[in-house]
Amino acid sequence: MNILIVGSGGREHALAWKIAASPLVKRLVAAPGNPGMAAQCELRGVAATDVDGLVALAREIAADLVVIGPESAVAAGLADALQLAGIPCFGPTAGAGQLESSKAFTKAFADRYGLPTSAYVVCETEAAAKAALDGFSAPYVIKADGLAAGKGVTIAQDRGEAEAAIHDAFGGRFGAAGARVVIEEFLEGEIGSLFALCDGEASMLFGWAQDHKRAFDGEQGPNTGGMGTYSPAPVFTPELVEQVRERLVEPAFAGIAADGSPYRGVLFVELMATKTGPKLVEFNVRFGDPECQVLMLRLESDLVPYLVACANGTLKDMPPPAWRDEQAVCVVLAAKGYPETPKGGGEIRGLDADLGEGVVVFHAGTKLDADGTLRAAGGRVLNVCARGATLEAAREKAYAAIAKIDFPDGFCRTDIGWRALAR
Ligand code: GLY
Repeated sequence: MNILIVGSGGREHALAWKIAASPLVKRLVAAPGNPGMAAQCELRGVAATDVDGLVALAREIAADLVVIGPESAVAAGLADALQLAGIPCFGPTAGAGQLESSKAFTKAFADRYGLPTSAYVVCETEAAAKAALDGFSAPYVIKADGLAAGKGVTIAQDRGEAEAAIHDAFGGRFGAAGARVVIEEFLEGEIGSLFALCDGEASMLFGWAQDHKRAFDGEQGPNTGGMGTYSPAPVFTPELVEQVRERLVEPAFAGIAADGSPYRGVLFVELMATKTGPKLVEFNVRFGDPECQVLMLRLESDLVPYLVACANGTLKDMPPPAWRDEQAVCVVLAAKGYPETPKGGGEIRGLDADLGEGVVVFHAGTKLDADGTLRAAGGRVLNVCARGATLEAAREKAYAAIAKIDFPDGFCRTDIGWRALAR
């Protein structure tokens, strides 16, 4: 098969790594990809939101499947255009993609189909948003309505911080994504990320993990796109998994199909495990980043037949995926200043060293100079991942590998997996 992977982050590098291991693959192309992905793919310089360019590239390489990585490509309508062109695609249409591209849409969707979620108010103006804070108490959850590359959520500890976040959003900090703001009730509990595949009709759970959203150890600092993950995570008891399937996954797939946009691809359910059961924090219409990295390390089955089955409507014929009976951990090395002002251009050395058995490094935001120097080119720069018999063993391997990587302008959290270890 010829496969085109769209995207350029750590998630896409992890997908490329797993897809490249499939005996079904003849040619693997990434657009635009990243320097790390060059080990698995041909890189072609077409942006993830250049829909016409990607359809042309898919035609040129006679792609049997296009795998959409990022939400920006979903929102740009890539799946819709590929469908029109008759090219099989793993990834939902822009209509179904509203589950991520508008938080207000998702809240209304949850109300309409009875999905448990937090209380909320959608605000169209700064004054209305500030006034709406009266109906909530600290900590305040302020979300830009649209796509903001994982940076549109503020958990404000007091009213002043909440008002500042509202002012920033309406002041243009997130561009058009912040023209509308959702204020939500803060949910107490433990966070979890669960994934499910759907082919428009049939669906299947596809793993779970726990992310660490704050920038610094001890859940301090600003919210980020995710600083590290591990899988499996003990928060996902069999009972919780079943509740998420019943109360969130199945109604979501049924609801979006009833709305006229059957879902094809992976749905990422970000949830809070509360005392009264799982509540939806948000949906994402793609694999999580860096959740995908630990899922790919643990996935024993060939990924490609599942992606194809979602694209061509044969998921009901697939067995549940097989997972390695091991723990996987991913630690994000980010550029200093992330998420607000990541320092770009920092040199990275040491990736050629022996980083240890079971260690895999995915590139998330890197670039190569003409002389071969590797540099940071994004907020989250590298994903250092490891597998081990226990969480402690996997963590030790990941942090030992990080100690060998020379990236003076980088930082990472040192407590990935703390919730599991504290149990
Ligand atoms: N790690 C959270 C996300 O991908 O949005």
